[in-house]
Amino acid sequence: MSPQLAEFFEFLRFPSISTDSSHRDDVRACADYLVQKFNSMGLKPELHETPGHPVVVARSEPRPDRPTVLIYGHYDVQPVDPVSEWDTPPFEPTLKGDKIFARGATDNKGQHFAHMLGVEETIKEHGDLPVNVIFLIEGEEEIGSPNLAPFLEKNRESLACDICAVSDTGMIGPGIPTLTYGLRGVACLEFTVHGPSLDLHSGVYGGAVPNPATMVARMVASLHDENGVIQIPGFYDKVIPLEKWERDMWASLPDGQAATIAETGVPGLWGEAGYTALEQRWGRPTAEVNGIGGGYQGEGSKTVIAREAMAKLSFRLVPDQNPKEILELAKAHLEKVCPDSCRIEVELGHSGPAYVMDPHSTYGKAAQRALQKAFSDEPRLIREGGSIPIIQAIKDILGVDSLLLGLALPDCQIHAPNENFTVTNFEAGIQLNRALLEELGN
Ligand code: BES
Ligand code: ZN
Repeated sequence: MSPQLAEFFEFLRFPSISTDSSHRDDVRACADYLVQKFNSMGLKPELHETPGHPVVVARSEPRPDRPTVLIYGHYDVQPVDPVSEWDTPPFEPTLKGDKIFARGATDNKGQHFAHMLGVEETIKEHGDLPVNVIFLIEGEEEIGSPNLAPFLEKNRESLACDICAVSDTGMIGPGIPTLTYGLRGVACLEFTVHGPSLDLHSGVYGGAVPNPATMVARMVASLHDENGVIQIPGFYDKVIPLEKWERDMWASLPDGQAATIAETGVPGLWGEAGYTALEQRWGRPTAEVNGIGGGYQGEGSKTVIAREAMAKLSFRLVPDQNPKEILELAKAHLEKVCPDSCRIEVELGHSGPAYVMDPHSTYGKAAQRALQKAFSDEPRLIREGGSIPIIQAIKDILGVDSLLLGLALPDCQIHAPNENFTVTNFEAGIQLNRALLEELGN
């Protein structure tokens, strides 16, 4: 195994699960590892405390005559559940063929570690870099980056830069260089429907009292009509329609319907009528149930009306929907459709807006040239359905666009069991960083 791969494996061994408080020390140990790695690369690392997990910043010696590139990534990872469905332990990285299996391998450790190694190689070979580099690696992306925007505000000057580069998105297929010029936003909420003051015998009382689980199901069903159109009043008011050029461009990509079915294993697709699968995934807003529960879940049957039931929802948003406004609209809708016979409690969660940039801007073109160089193929331009909430904040606070140069493959299983990153993309990522810094330094 190459020394670079061995180091990557070391990084993957930290169970840096940001959402789970029992892993707090592991998250910190992972941040400490980064500090030590940046130090050995010849950069100046800083570990910044936040009310949550630490932010790691590392910079090259700044030279005023060069552009400054901010490279963003996140060292926190998603939980591993259901852990029984992993073929190998999630924090014991395992190489099988070209694939490295571990939680965080693609999302996002592999992708930003490749940038770090690219910088390290360039410094080793030339004793210098073509641009000023600031790495910004946070530990809270998977929980909505609650402390990063305030950190950017506070450190606006020391983080001043010309452009941001991020590898935390996908490629449309192996070997196909992909520039993502837009991300959907996200807004989360959770609601509980309370009915009787205690669990009831469903025979004695059923028929006369409201069943909270039925009500939650009805409320969830009220989110869409039969054409997949969201029924929350005002939900689409600020949506900017897809433009013809992007619909045409996406239509020329490999068949998105077939790819979506193949990647997900669904028997068929279901979505907003009038849009292709890629348009539905990249350019249209959604309402999703991420969890739903209530009542008896054990073996066999139990004739009970549970006193409460709940659901967790998330909305994916497109420009110019305002996440806070959407949460208020959704809350009002749920409160309206909840029958008077029950009491509803809605808890609003984290949110972040959608992002779009011009892929044909000067920096966009430099990114395209770097992708072309690293993959020896014409880059494809896409938007993505996933969210990186801080990207729009980087634009608002630091005033710069983000070049989204993803290395995640369709079968990398991020957020799921058996997450993996290929050695091929790990190495391509290193070359991509080198090409990008060269292009941006010209
Ligand atoms: N890397 C993903 C986002 C992503 C994945 C973008 C694939 C494009 C393609 C990121 O780590 C992520 O999972 N973000 C969360 C954000 C949320 C927790 C606030 C998401 O999209 O669910
Ligand atoms: Zn993620």
